[in-house]
Amino acid sequence: MSPSLDDARALDAADPLRGYRERFILPEGVIYLDGNSLGAAPVAVRDRVERAVVDEWARGLVRSWNAADWIGAPARIGAKIAPLIGAAPGEVIVADSTSVNLFKLLAAALRRQRPRRVILTEPGNFPTDLYVAQGLADLLTDAELRVRPAAELAGALDADTAVVMLSHVHYRTGARHDLAAITAAAHAAGALMLWDLSHSAGAIAVDLGAAGADLAVGCGYKYLNGGPGAPAWLYVAGRLQGELASPLTGWMGHADPFAFAGDYRPAAGLARFLAGTPPIVSMAALETGVDLFAGVDMAALETKSQRLQSLFIALVEDRCAGHGLVLGTPREPARRGSHVSFAHPDAWPVMQALIERGVIGDFRAPDLLRCGFTPLYLGYEDVWHAVEALRQVLETGTWRAPRFQERLRVT
Ligand SMILES: Cc1ncc(COP(=O)(O)O)c(C=O)c1O
Repeated sequence: MSPSLDDARALDAADPLRGYRERFILPEGVIYLDGNSLGAAPVAVRDRVERAVVDEWARGLVRSWNAADWIGAPARIGAKIAPLIGAAPGEVIVADSTSVNLFKLLAAALRRQRPRRVILTEPGNFPTDLYVAQGLADLLTDAELRVRPAAELAGALDADTAVVMLSHVHYRTGARHDLAAITAAAHAAGALMLWDLSHSAGAIAVDLGAAGADLAVGCGYKYLNGGPGAPAWLYVAGRLQGELASPLTGWMGHADPFAFAGDYRPAAGLARFLAGTPPIVSMAALETGVDLFAGVDMAALETKSQRLQSLFIALVEDRCAGHGLVLGTPREPARRGSHVSFAHPDAWPVMQALIERGVIGDFRAPDLLRCGFTPLYLGYEDVWHAVEALRQVLETGTWRAPRFQERLRVT
C-alpha cells in the first residue's frame, strides 16, 4: 500500500528545508510541478527588480554601472552559482542564453583540440544542444557532430574526438548520467567534456571540481528561479581558462573594454566569454533567485528531491493503476535528476485537465506527462494532492472534453 496523506504530512513536518517555501510566491490553489521548466518567483524579486529599475536605473542612470556594480554582475552572480555545482568562484560567469553559451564553449573546445574535429553526443539530447552543434559543424566545415546511443559513447571515443557534449539530466526522462565516470572516460581518450546542467543546477548535488570536469552550461530560469528568459551561465575549469578563446569576441570580453582599443585582446579569466552588455534588470531577478540558495546544503536538497520523486512514483503506480501510465524515468534515485515522466497515450489532454485542477506539470511530445520536483518549495503533501488530482482526472475521464484537445504553441 502506498503512503497515506498523514504519512506525507509527517514527512513535511520533519523536512529541514520546509522554511524555504515561504520565500516563494505560489498562487493559492496551485501545486507547481514545473519548476524544471520555469522556476517560481521569489518573494524578494519584486522589490529587487523595482530597486534595479527605480533606484539604479531611473535615479542612478548611467552612474549605476559603477555605483550599483552593474558591470560586476556576470562574475558576481557566477560566483554565487559556483558552490551549487562544485566550482570555484572564478569558474562560473553569467551570460547570454544556454544556446549561445553552448556555441561559445563548443567552438572554443574545437579550436583548442585541433586536429581533433568531432563533437560526440547522444541522440535525443535537448534539441538546442544538437542544433547548435550541427550549426557549428556546418559553419566550420572541417568539424563533425557524431551522435551515438549512450551505451555506445565510450566505444565511440577515439583520437578524433575533440569534445563530448551531454546533458547531465535528460530533459524528457530525467535519467542522470554518471558525471564523474563519463568525464574520466572522455579525458582518457584525450577529449574535453562539456556538461549541460540545465536540469541539475539547483536541484541535485553536482561536483564539477571533484570530477575534474572541463566545461559546463546551464539555464537561469529553471531551478535557479531567475525568471522567464533569465540569463544563463557557463563554467570553464580554471586550468583551461587561458587556453580557450571565445568565438564571439565582443567588447565585454576584452581585457580592457573601456580602453576602446582597435584590436581585440581577450580578458585574462572567464570574462573573455562575455560578449555584449549584460541585461541588468534580468540579472537582478536572477541574482534574487540564486541568493535563495545561500546556506542550502545541496546534499540535503538532493535527498529531498529524490524522496519527493519516490513518493510520487509510488503513489501514481498505486492510486492511478489501470489507467495506462508507464514510468519513463529510472526507479533508482541515484540515476534520476529532479523530474519524473510517465508515458500515456493521451498525455496532452490529461495534462491540460490536470492543469485546470491547479496541478501544473507539462507535456513533452509525443506522450510524456512530465512533473518536476523543486525541493525548495514543494512538500510531500503537495505530492499527495497532485496524485489525487491525477487519479480523479483519469478516473472521471474529464480529460476527454474537447477543450483539452487543442495543442497550444508552448507545451
Ligand atoms: C538541457 C537543456 N539545455 C538547454 C535548454 C534551453 O536553452 P535556452 O535557454 O538557450 O533556450 C533547455 C531548456 O529547457 C534544456 O532543457
